Amino acid sequence: MMTMTTTTTTMADSNFTVRGVSDTARWVAYFRAQETLRSDALFRDPLAARLAGEHGFHLANTLADGNKHEWAWVARTYLFDRFISRAIQEGADLVVNLAAGLDARPYRMDLPASLQWIEVDLPDIVSYKEEILEKEKPHCRLERVSLDLSDEQSRRDLFGEVNSRATKVAVAAEGLLMYFTPEEVASLAKDLAAGQRFQNWVIDLASPGQLRLMQRTTGKQLSEAGAAFKFGPPEGADFFVPYGWQPREVQGLLKTAAEFKRAPAELLSLLPEPKGKFGGYPWTGVCLMDRR
Ligand SMILES: C[S@@+](CC[C@H](N)C(=O)[O-])C[C@H]1O[C@@H](n2cnc3c(N)ncnc32)[C@H](O)[C@@H]1O
Repeated sequence: MMTMTTTTTTMADSNFTVRGVSDTARWVAYFRAQETLRSDALFRDPLAARLAGEHGFHLANTLADGNKHEWAWVARTYLFDRFISRAIQEGADLVVNLAAGLDARPYRMDLPASLQWIEVDLPDIVSYKEEILEKEKPHCRLERVSLDLSDEQSRRDLFGEVNSRATKVAVAAEGLLMYFTPEEVASLAKDLAAGQRFQNWVIDLASPGQLRLMQRTTGKQLSEAGAAFKFGPPEGADFFVPYGWQPREVQGLLKTAAEFKRAPAELLSLLPEPKGKFGGYPWTGVCLMDRR
């Protein structure tokens, strides 16, 4: 059993429904907490159980398919860790984590103390996180920004400021783009690419087939809470090319999980991944992109 804290549970939490898109952050933190309990964990996030809280634990166990596909969440975290580390090794001195949610990488990764790390998310989840992590010490220079990333002017102002403060900027957006329409994703991509010092962007991406699958399962409840799944472009990672981003490495979650012997036996027949566009094939992956 995971250790649960009730210190941040309020009356509003008592029925453990999804109250909006930020609750998905609690749900994801649940999987990091579960991974941390394993003797063969691919990463350890000792703060995840506290951050997920009772609400995250219940969401995972009540959403349709909410506690399934642990392998996929773990592979996603693993790949983001790998690509972010690579960007830092290649000289990034500032990481911007868009929609950071309850991610605790600044506390659990081996990072240069001089690295600047900026987390961006909606105000409620930022204040919840600050309360929980008040006494914890990050391994780098961490700041948090409360911002609605769909507010174009505010995000452009932020990206402009970030650009002026760094030599090389790496951006991460884990579990965000699927909640945006293709037009919104394109606009965000262009705004990020406008920063001359923005070098890399790490994203996760679903195929059209995977998007439809998710819309039919967990997506139904999330949609009712205003957090519908919307983005699974037919072009795959090439979607980003016209908006200033060149995919450098794309790794599928199932393939990655299989390498670690974590993929469920019933899904192994889906491997190897098809070549070219994925179309109806159920695929999710993580992509490291370079600014063109
Ligand atoms: C699935 S969670 C992922 C959180 C974190 N990146 C992780 O992987 O654990 C989605 C996150 O997107 C954030 N989010 C969604 N729409 C947003 C917006 N318009 N502006 C800022 N954050 C947003 C939510 O608040 C939530 O924290």
